[in-house]
Amino acid sequence: HRHALSVAETKLFESLQTMPADAILGLIAEHRDDPRPQKIDLGVGVYRNAAGETPVLTSVKKAERRLLESQDTKAYIGTAGSARFNAAIQRLTFADSADEQRLVTIQTPGGSGSLRVAAGIILRARETAAVWVSEPTWANHVPLLGGAGLELKPFPYYDTTNHVINVDAMLDALRAAPKGDLLLLHACCHNPSGLDPTADEWHAIMDVIVERELLPFVDVAYQGFARSVDEDPFVIRELAGRVPEMIVANSCSKNFGLYRDRVGSLSFLAADTATRDVVSSQVNNLVRTIYSMPPDHGATVVSMILEDAELRAEWLGEVNEMRDRLQGMRVLLNDALAEKAPGHDFSHLVRANGMFCFLGISKEQVGRLKKEFGIYMVDSSRINVAGITENNVGYLAESIAAVVGGS
Ligand code: LMR
Repeated sequence: HRHALSVAETKLFESLQTMPADAILGLIAEHRDDPRPQKIDLGVGVYRNAAGETPVLTSVKKAERRLLESQDTKAYIGTAGSARFNAAIQRLTFADSADEQRLVTIQTPGGSGSLRVAAGIILRARETAAVWVSEPTWANHVPLLGGAGLELKPFPYYDTTNHVINVDAMLDALRAAPKGDLLLLHACCHNPSGLDPTADEWHAIMDVIVERELLPFVDVAYQGFARSVDEDPFVIRELAGRVPEMIVANSCSKNFGLYRDRVGSLSFLAADTATRDVVSSQVNNLVRTIYSMPPDHGATVVSMILEDAELRAEWLGEVNEMRDRLQGMRVLLNDALAEKAPGHDFSHLVRANGMFCFLGISKEQVGRLKKEFGIYMVDSSRINVAGITENNVGYLAESIAAVVGGS
């Protein structure tokens, strides 16, 4: 029974409230609008080179030129996107660790699109499904997966006092997890902490996954930014041989620098081929009800790079360069802080992988860095080390020293 709507109620938008800016994306505009020339952006996870720029990768530019010349239609492809991309990215992630007859991969609009489709499939399969997420995890994991309807359960991960991963506490929490729960893992370059388990710790985690019959749900957004493109999916490849089912969400935003083109993929490993085929039909059906099909351009560029020996080699070189620069900037900042703020230990910076790590300062200190010094980072004090350059590291370290107290 519905009552008649009053005049005020017939105005649909009137009941809406303004939402707070996104904790990460909001920083892009804040930094852009800051007139201070010495401002530094350590916010959103976008790679920058030594000149502070985010150029299109050379391998990507070359593939784009070829694509421009060779593409002869813009007709629809379908819900799963490019079959060539799907085969190439599956190979890049899994190598030959998984039985292809149990595996299906679709192209998605970025890593976020991949996670959103994964959530929908999980809920179709089990309405009451719960996903364990690291405390903390990527700020968007929670609203994205939670907003889709999944129950999230936190497990301890980052020890904010000692700046290490608390693997024992993590394992204890997972040992108490009900069988069948999902476990969201970051394959490498944990976002936001930058701290990944060691190989031994990964093995202990995998043992618990197998023992407790948890379903691994692996997010791989930084393949190549920790050790190498081939070593970074280690946990995915090991698990593929040990578990009946697994979900992998991949992003090409960072390692191909294709951020705005929205390139990602979603893979499901099923217990057998028949189940894989059912999952595949569900995924394609679900995609049709959300965005119909993914954008093609970036994914075709990725498949062109991965299929061509020369472009692939050039791309691998560019990934190595990005990784090395990130690691170099961690060392540079740690050294500069050791000089400017000798009473404080920032050595955890150099133990981190990828773009991110926590400075380990308070929200108030983060606020002061922004207000007084024009230095932007997420409230949690997560910094994107790609924003550091040889030119700004001195100012950055002095500013941090000023808010934490120099000695
Ligand atoms: C980040 O964490 O900054 C990146 O993954 C970009 C994003 O979408 O949040």
